[in-house]
Amino acid sequence: MLVDYQLLRIPGPTPVPPSVERAMLSPMIGHRNQETKDLLRRLKPGLQKVFGTNEDVMLIAGSGTAGLEIAVCNTVNPGDEVLVIVTGSFGERFAKICEAYHLQVHRIRFPNGKALQPKAIKTFLETNPTIKAVFATYCETSTGVLNPIQDLAIQIKQASDALLIVDGVSCVGAVDTKMDDWGIDILVTGSQKAFMLPPGLTLVAVSQKAWSHIYHNKQPRYYFDLRKYQQSLYHNTTPFTPPLSLLFGLEESVRLIEKEGLFTVYKRHKIMKEMIRAAFTALDLDLLTNDLDASPTVTAVKAIDFSAEELRKIAKKEFNLVLAGGQNELKGEIFRVGHMGYCSPADMLLTISLIEIALLRLGKQVELGAGVRAAQLIWIQEGLV
Ligand SMILES: Cc1ncc(COP(=O)(O)O)c(C=O)c1O
Repeated sequence: MLVDYQLLRIPGPTPVPPSVERAMLSPMIGHRNQETKDLLRRLKPGLQKVFGTNEDVMLIAGSGTAGLEIAVCNTVNPGDEVLVIVTGSFGERFAKICEAYHLQVHRIRFPNGKALQPKAIKTFLETNPTIKAVFATYCETSTGVLNPIQDLAIQIKQASDALLIVDGVSCVGAVDTKMDDWGIDILVTGSQKAFMLPPGLTLVAVSQKAWSHIYHNKQPRYYFDLRKYQQSLYHNTTPFTPPLSLLFGLEESVRLIEKEGLFTVYKRHKIMKEMIRAAFTALDLDLLTNDLDASPTVTAVKAIDFSAEELRKIAKKEFNLVLAGGQNELKGEIFRVGHMGYCSPADMLLTISLIEIALLRLGKQVELGAGVRAAQLIWIQEGLV
């Protein structure tokens, strides 16, 4: 087998483009020097476009979960009532972070594989006017659901003054996101997903409404204090040493996104989603989500008459194809294919054809090529990107 060859088809970390790798190898610079200030200034407009905001996007060393915790500890006070919408493991993680900060957490759960229903949230908020913030997951990576955040924001605004705080870790940069127009108060993402970087950087943007909460918030915080990041960024700097190599890479990844065009990036992700879904359907496999709720960045497939874990083992051992498994109660029940960031419809054809062989190896009746053909037809129909 080829050394260092790997087909990373998990929903993050995702493959890193060669030009981003090269940018990250740039020689180290002083974090208080003018070069760093220039870099932070240059990064602002591109990040704002991806987030759909006129606010600054703050860059903080830490994984996506750090960004979620930052959103919690800056906005709500101990004892405050909050609503966490749980559509899978990452919604549940948001709830656990809120509990760690001694908030009174109300959960509304939706079944695995189903998107949240904005009307149900509105009804809850109408009868619970003390809720200070609503926490939601844009793409629920554990199930492959893309939640209707725009509709959710509309329903929340009609019923309540609560902040809307959104975990966009596994989709910002791959799906349409209009933070300001939709009325998202805090939007969080991470570097290792659609931004095509290694892990280690969280990106957080905050609305004016949320800033007024943050400035009055009593929750103790130091490294995670967003006021520090905001004030530093006014002067194109950061309160602490930033992960400079990731910032070099980020400038290049944003350049790649801009060069391709956000609209084309979203279209590419949509086509990859449709190809993968058509392929698994042609192979007689059941998908966890319906077409309407499906995320353009990750697809979950039910393992009904075969072992998901065995399939993943074969794919890794024989082809160095890395697939994701199920999390928590979905462990062993599903496998997941990531199609986000630096990947193309052509990569989907390769992924599908290898999964077909792996399924055959497992003893499943598979018509070789059936999935590939279905995906090819989608790609041709949708227009080659
Ligand atoms: C939706 C979502 N939220 C949060 C996280 C946590 O990010 P990290 O593992 O970088 O802390 C992930 C990671 O997969 C995610 O997909």
